[in-house]
Amino acid sequence: MTSDIYPVPASWADSATISAERYAADYVRSLDDADRFWLEQAERLEWFTPPSVADQSSFHEADFGVRWFADGVLNVSANCIDRHLATRGDQVAILWEPDAPDRPARRITFTELHAEVCRFANVLKAQGVRRGDRVTLYLPMIPEAAFAMLACTRIGAIHSIVFGGFSPEALAGRITDCDSRLVITADEGCRGGKCVSLKANVDAAARLITCLDTVIVVRATGGPVAMQDGRDIWYHDAAALVGGDCPPEPMNAEDPLFLLYTSGSTGAPKGVLHTTGGYLLWAAYTHACVFDCRDGDTYWCAADVGWVTGHSYIVYGPLANGVTTLMYEGVPNWPTPARMWQVVDRHQVTQLYTAPTALRALMREGDGFVMQTSRASLRLLGSVGEPINPEAWRWYHDVVGDGRCPIVDTWWQTETGGHMITPLPGATPLKPGAASFPFFGVEPALVDAAGVVLEGATEGNLVIARSWPGQMRTVWGDHARFFQTYFSAYPGVYFTGDGARRDTDGYWWITGRVDDVINVSGHRMGTAEVESALVLHRSVVEAAVVGFAHDIKGQGIYAYVTLNAGEVPTAALRKDLVAWVRAEIGPIATPDAIQFTPGLPKTRSGKIMRRILRKIAEGDFAALGDTSTLADPAVVDDLIANRVG
Ligand code: PRX
Repeated sequence: MTSDIYPVPASWADSATISAERYAADYVRSLDDADRFWLEQAERLEWFTPPSVADQSSFHEADFGVRWFADGVLNVSANCIDRHLATRGDQVAILWEPDAPDRPARRITFTELHAEVCRFANVLKAQGVRRGDRVTLYLPMIPEAAFAMLACTRIGAIHSIVFGGFSPEALAGRITDCDSRLVITADEGCRGGKCVSLKANVDAAARLITCLDTVIVVRATGGPVAMQDGRDIWYHDAAALVGGDCPPEPMNAEDPLFLLYTSGSTGAPKGVLHTTGGYLLWAAYTHACVFDCRDGDTYWCAADVGWVTGHSYIVYGPLANGVTTLMYEGVPNWPTPARMWQVVDRHQVTQLYTAPTALRALMREGDGFVMQTSRASLRLLGSVGEPINPEAWRWYHDVVGDGRCPIVDTWWQTETGGHMITPLPGATPLKPGAASFPFFGVEPALVDAAGVVLEGATEGNLVIARSWPGQMRTVWGDHARFFQTYFSAYPGVYFTGDGARRDTDGYWWITGRVDDVINVSGHRMGTAEVESALVLHRSVVEAAVVGFAHDIKGQGIYAYVTLNAGEVPTAALRKDLVAWVRAEIGPIATPDAIQFTPGLPKTRSGKIMRRILRKIAEGDFAALGDTSTLADPAVVDDLIANRVG
């Protein structure tokens, strides 16, 4: 940990929307006079019927529920598009940069976005999609992904985006969980010069399930596609048959907006549900304060719309604020490690928001690739998805930003809808690696294992003591699991699953997950999911998966595998298991190390002692702690002797 402080640059202190004084005053007001504060903020949105109530949430079991602005009526697409038409119709809304640098960029104005979204919405309606229906999106990073999202919101359908890197098995699970009968996909998705047939993956998923009856296919690359009669429809054919006018559906603030599946410590990924009013306000307000975009800015969030970062900060936040949002199809390091900085120059990007794992990978390539570009347009840098190590932070600040741009290290989660603990560029002196201070209305606290609230400079489990508008509302189809997962460990507060430290200046530092969730290249994964995939393999009897520190990915995946009696551990089997996990979940779950072991360290009651497995994966044999409670302590020696390093 570092104690360096980077003061607010004069250029920001003088002009930022939120100054240090304003932050201090408004933060107190956001807690002490919360309802009034939030009803005022709600005026940022355009409502058919403005809300008269703000927070009606309770974290207690007896009257548990999360509800905001419950009598308000609005439409998300109207907020992201229609209300900008009079003032910004000709401004670029979505600036699309393709994977291959020699292909042209696409510039979609707010007026064009309106036309595209209305037409897409009419295509959905023509296919029988109604308010409340679930529509699964399995799309590459093309503008049609944003059109499809906004089209769903226009007619009140609930979208569920599945990241294009997930396998057919993973896709099938997410389609059936929410009983989605329509999937929107593309012929192919291209990243880093390689094309994947997304449509073929949907076909494979469809063979595993029964609920799917329509597949809308967007032609993105013109690659080969097999169309199934009666089920598959080309988007361009369907679009030619519908009109271009589609009034936005008035939605209640608490009507479901979207589902996004995310990993937890146990069980299958859960469908995190966000609703209309609170989510949109949170995405818009955090985006406005944290990135502080001005007219003429080009803002770039280099995430994928398959993750929550893409939902809140490529599409909903910036568009609600009328900001030009850059959408990039490709990867950070192709065809050259200078690609990101070239994109910054080509489009004169003013705010850049990316993940530490990308920064670490690019940093390793040396400063030369950065220095060959200008980056003079940049005013602000952002980081998201995992703790940023001070070395990567300084490189981002000193080399990428030429020491000129503040870094907003934003801590949040799929469940929180948007930023929770983050610097504000005109208000917060920065400490490399610290998420800094809570956003308005966010009341973080630290508790020990027994739930006792810890005061002062200390470390503990991070909880949030009251609701905020962007909070998830439920786990799709399993409200009991929502309560159980987040509110049962420490009654009366929301448990984040993260650990954190508060220093003597009151800065918050996120230390990482304290549960069985790992963060691989900024992608969140439940160790239980990888274990479930492994034990489905016919040779495997048992598996335990842990994370270990990885220079580029942040965390890598280390799997301990016990084989069925008679199975021989070979290099070929190891390869086969890696391929198996990739097929079951997707390439993001590729194990970095697989150690075959005759047994796992278990207590006498049969509980696997993961603490020991984590230490061994890290190569930290000195600190294994008490192993005397193990049913068979000798297992540990075998594990150490055969560690895969
Ligand atoms: O552990 C925290 C880490 O990512 C988790 C949330 O992952 P996900 O729901 O996929 O959302 C990612 C995008 C917000 C958190 O529980 N995390 C996210 N941002 C940070 C972070 N850890 C440290 N610093 C951050 N800025």
